[in-house]
Amino acid sequence: MIRSRFTGLGMAVPPNCIKNNDLQRYMDTSDDWIRQRSGIEQRYWVDEGVSTSDLGLEAANVALEQAKLKPADLDMILFATLSPDHEFPGTACFLQGKLGAPGIPAIDIRQQCSGFIYSVAVADQFIRTGAIRRALVVGAEVHSKGLDLTTRGRDVSVLFGDGAGAVVMEATSIQNPKTDSFLWSTHLHADGTHAQELWTAAPGTGLKTKERILQPHLEEAVHYPKMNGKSVFIHASQKMPESLQEALLANGLSSEEIDLYVLHQANLRINQKCAEVMGLPDEKVFNTIQKYGNTTAATIPIGLVEAEKASRLKQGTLVASAAFGSGYTWASMIYRW
Ligand code: COA
Repeated sequence: MIRSRFTGLGMAVPPNCIKNNDLQRYMDTSDDWIRQRSGIEQRYWVDEGVSTSDLGLEAANVALEQAKLKPADLDMILFATLSPDHEFPGTACFLQGKLGAPGIPAIDIRQQCSGFIYSVAVADQFIRTGAIRRALVVGAEVHSKGLDLTTRGRDVSVLFGDGAGAVVMEATSIQNPKTDSFLWSTHLHADGTHAQELWTAAPGTGLKTKERILQPHLEEAVHYPKMNGKSVFIHASQKMPESLQEALLANGLSSEEIDLYVLHQANLRINQKCAEVMGLPDEKVFNTIQKYGNTTAATIPIGLVEAEKASRLKQGTLVASAAFGSGYTWASMIYRW
C-alpha cells in the first residue's frame, strides 16, 4: 500500500517583531483589546524588499535539507497563499524559479486558511496514485503589505502576521498501518455562500466597473481585506470540531487517541472553544498564535516546527490538524509523524 509521509519540515518568519503596542503608531487599538479578543501578543512583518515566495523559499530550503533532498529530486510544487507575489503567474512559479527545479508542475492553491491542508490533500492524491513520489508543499503569507493599517481596518489588521512553513511529502510503502509514519486521511469542505464574509474585493473582475481597480476603489479601501468577525467566529467554532470529528470517525479513532492537535491559528478563543466542544485537555492543543498572529496558510506547518522544537512532535506522534477560513473553507487531516 503506497501512502505519503512527511519527511521534511521548515519555517521562516521575518526579523521585524511587531508587538501589540507597536500597532498604536498606526491605529487606535490596545494590547489589552488584542490579547483579550484573540490571544495575540506579537506578529512579524517583512522588510519592503521581501515577497511571499522569498519567505516560502526560506522555509522550503529548511524542509528540503531535513528531507535530505535537492530541488531537482522534487516531482511537484504546491504553494498555498492568499497574498501572492503578483496577480499572475502563481507564486509556485516564482518559488520554482528561485529554487531551480524547472519542468515539474508548480500549482497555486487559493484556499486561504485551509490552503495548507488542501495542498497536502492534492499532493497526497498524486502520491497515492503513483503519479509522483515527492512533493514540496509550502504555505506562506506576506499580510503586512496588504492590510489597512488605520483605525478603519483595525478589526482585521491586528490579527494577521507574515510567515511561511513548508513540508516535503514522499511516497512510502506501508508495512504496519498502526505504527508507520504516514498521512491517514484528509477531509476538505467549502461553502461559497459565505464568500463575502471574509474577502478582498479588489482588484477583481467581480467589481461592477470597467476595470479591475480604479482610483475610487482605493479611496473606498476596497483593496483591503474585510471581515464579518462574528460570523467567522461562529462558523469556525462549529466547523473546526466538526471536521476533526469527521476525521476521527473516518479512521475509527477517539479524540483521546490523538497525541497532539496542531490546529489553524485564527484566534486563541476559537481553538479554546474547539477544545471545549471536543473535551480536549489544554496540553494536547498546540497554539502559536500568541507569537505569530494568524499567518493563514502557514499556521499549521509553523505549528509543527514549533511543536518539534518543544519536543511535543516526534516520530510516531499521532497528530490531528484542522483549519477554517475565508471561502468559507474548512478541512482536517490525521497523520502519524
Ligand atoms: N482595537 C480596539 N478596538 C477594536 C479593534 C481593535 N483592533 N477592532 C475592533 N474594535 C472595536 C470595535 O470598533 C467595536 O467598538 P464599538 O463597540 O465601539 O463599536 C468593539 O471593538 C467591539 O467590536 P466587535 O467586532 O464586536 O468585537 P468582537 O468581540 O466580535 O471581536 C474579533 C472581534 C475580530 C476579534 C472577533 O470577531 C473574531 O475573532 N472573529 C474571528 C476572526 C478570525 O478568526 N479571523 C480569521 C479567520 S481565518
